[in-house]
Amino acid sequence: MIDHSTVQQILDAADIVDVVSDFVALKRRGANWIGLCPFHNDRRPSFYVSRAKGICKCFACGEGGSAVNFIMKHEQLSYPEALRYLARKYHIEIQEKELTDEEKQAQTEREAMLMLNEWACNYFEKQLHETQAGQDIGLSYFKERGFNDATIKEFRLGYSSEVYDDFYKAAVAQGFNPQLLFDVGLCIPDERGGGRDRFRGRVMFPIINIAGKVIAFGGRTLKKDKNIAKYVNSPESAIYSKRNVIFGLYQAKREISKSDKCFIVEGYADVISMHQAGFKNVIASSGTALTEGHIHAIRRFTNNVTEMFDGDEAGVKAAIRGVDMLLKEGLNIKVLPLPPEDDPDTFVRAHSHTEVEDYIDQNEMDFIKFKSNVVLADAKNDPIKRTAAITDVVKSIALIPDEIARMVYGKECSTLFMMDEQTILRQIKHYRNKYKEQWRKEREQQQAREQRMASMQESGTPSMPEVPDMPPPVPEELIAEIGPADIPADTPPQRSNRPLGGVEVQEREVIRLIVNYGLCYLGEIEYEDKTVHPTTVLEYIITELKQSGIGFINPLYHRTFEIAQQYIAPYYKDKEAFTAQQNERIQQFINQEMAKDEVHEPDAFDSTSLINAQERKEKAVKAKANVIAKNELDQFNSAYLMKALCSIDDDDVRQLACDLATDNMPQLSKIHTKYAVIVEEKDRLQHLVPERLSNWENAILVEQIEELKSRIANAQPDEQPHLMEELQKLYKLRHQLAAYIGDRVVNPN
Ligand code: CTP
Ligand code: MN
Repeated sequence: MIDHSTVQQILDAADIVDVVSDFVALKRRGANWIGLCPFHNDRRPSFYVSRAKGICKCFACGEGGSAVNFIMKHEQLSYPEALRYLARKYHIEIQEKELTDEEKQAQTEREAMLMLNEWACNYFEKQLHETQAGQDIGLSYFKERGFNDATIKEFRLGYSSEVYDDFYKAAVAQGFNPQLLFDVGLCIPDERGGGRDRFRGRVMFPIINIAGKVIAFGGRTLKKDKNIAKYVNSPESAIYSKRNVIFGLYQAKREISKSDKCFIVEGYADVISMHQAGFKNVIASSGTALTEGHIHAIRRFTNNVTEMFDGDEAGVKAAIRGVDMLLKEGLNIKVLPLPPEDDPDTFVRAHSHTEVEDYIDQNEMDFIKFKSNVVLADAKNDPIKRTAAITDVVKSIALIPDEIARMVYGKECSTLFMMDEQTILRQIKHYRNKYKEQWRKEREQQQAREQRMASMQESGTPSMPEVPDMPPPVPEELIAEIGPADIPADTPPQRSNRPLGGVEVQEREVIRLIVNYGLCYLGEIEYEDKTVHPTTVLEYIITELKQSGIGFINPLYHRTFEIAQQYIAPYYKDKEAFTAQQNERIQQFINQEMAKDEVHEPDAFDSTSLINAQERKEKAVKAKANVIAKNELDQFNSAYLMKALCSIDDDDVRQLACDLATDNMPQLSKIHTKYAVIVEEKDRLQHLVPERLSNWENAILVEQIEELKSRIANAQPDEQPHLMEELQKLYKLRHQLAAYIGDRVVNPN
């Protein structure tokens, strides 16, 4: 569907640091970039991005890959969809042919849903701006609320008409399948075999995921009728899970990351008003308690969260209720009570930017302190109520993962409640242990569930569970109350690796060298016909394998090897173009350097010494230029095959290549020194490649010997001598190989 040269163009343009930065706040660390892994619950940055390699990788959970993989994984897209995403990002035009009905059907459900939602969002926007009803009803309502045009555009607000099935008809006429309209929840099937619109007569707030895709809608009625629900939201679907999406995060993420802080408010209108008032790091909980999924999404951008709420009693109660989950996840939480008559929307509209800023400065307050004050005020001097209040606060403190923070809060709490500090600290410890036990149990139950799922998937049929009496799943309320498993940051879920046999390990090692260094220059190699050629790692391996008559048994490695070979010819062509262009640049560099300043040497009186000085300088400049050129070419060589294989459309080969490419990504220590000399694998290829090939041959021999031995053990007496003879042959071969390993080196240059 996308032609080869466009794919190449996209892959060339996609800068991994840039691509990942749209989702993860990255910081520079030496040659790499690091951030919190978006694929597991990361607390310390374990996600590494290497710009030179075009690869990212989480050292904790193992997730990662090329820019294409990252987008596929993160956005749950197919390979071509991920390419399209990157093409859009880099403004590369894809000539797409009009989809036939069949192709439309064939698209995966998710993609079709996203496409539909995007179309619907545009449709509702058009309704708002371009129809009479839209302008009179919808637009005038937004204007009344003080939203300006830029804000309405940025949040893509829209209007859905009063008519029973306006949208349904328009979407069907556009070629969308009615079933899809029902699945995504924009329409509801009716008795007459048609469909009616879910959001009739409402103003539309699209819910946009972190990648900018419209995944759901909230529609607000403009009627005062108490019997009509104020908001109607899209139902859960393949693309929308309430538990994981936060309204406004897409529009707020850059500012949250920049200011390292995030405000949480309740409603859509609050987010939009604050945004318009210049407070752009704001998101909405949409009136429900935050889930772990929400917090996970926020924590990619900041650890500092301020909850804003109405200052009336109900607002305060609600503010206290939702926070335990945040504490448990280790966020720094503050609260900002508003005046009783206000919500964030009315408050920012009634005050200037500076006034709001001042108010925040003066009223923002640590959550634990706030909660202590509230419960203490409630309890007054009633001893029973006081006890309950202290326990309540102690239980919140016990949720905080950081031990020092727990102790600091414990101390403050003891002062505030006028209690013995040690008693409070003991209580905190007591509840901490209780939580831990609770979380451990949950984790075990979760693991058991996962194992059961895995075994079901493996056998392909729903088999009987290993443990016949599975505990029932933990009720949602309980999870909401005590939170999910407390997995320490340094023991994230590990992917289990099937143990590999000896030969397979060696095969993998050789294919790893090919993926990582296949087109790196190895040296001058003497070929069978006694000619000597400059040779790449891949070419060397091809020749050696031919000579020794061995090949990859693992079909995936074999396929990868075959595909890699197809890149040799294009590589030489591209390399020629690269060096030609490079020579030009280098010559320019030399000219510039030479023109920079004249030679001023004290003894440059006569022309001979002046010429000598000139020559010396030219030599030095050229030497410098050569070093630069060599490094650039090295980079080009080592990236060429890896980038190609890591982005290829063969799913298995791409996954393998990405795994292998990230296998040896240097995990940086916390200490960085300019002076440390790191001998990279790349500089040892002349020893490494022959050695690994020999190891492979050796592993094959060992396997054959073992097999023969067991045959001998079971053989009839008359077969024995013949088999023993064969065994001797194998031993001899192995002996020869050991001797050969010493010789098998490549001459540098
Ligand atoms: N909400 C909802 N369904 C409802 C009521 C509320 O999903 N029936 C969610 C919406 O996300 C809403 C939030 O809860 O934005 C807060 O509710 P509310 O304060 O009533 O709405 P506002 O967004 O403040 O709307 P407005 O100011 O227009 O009344
Ligand atoms: Mn409101």
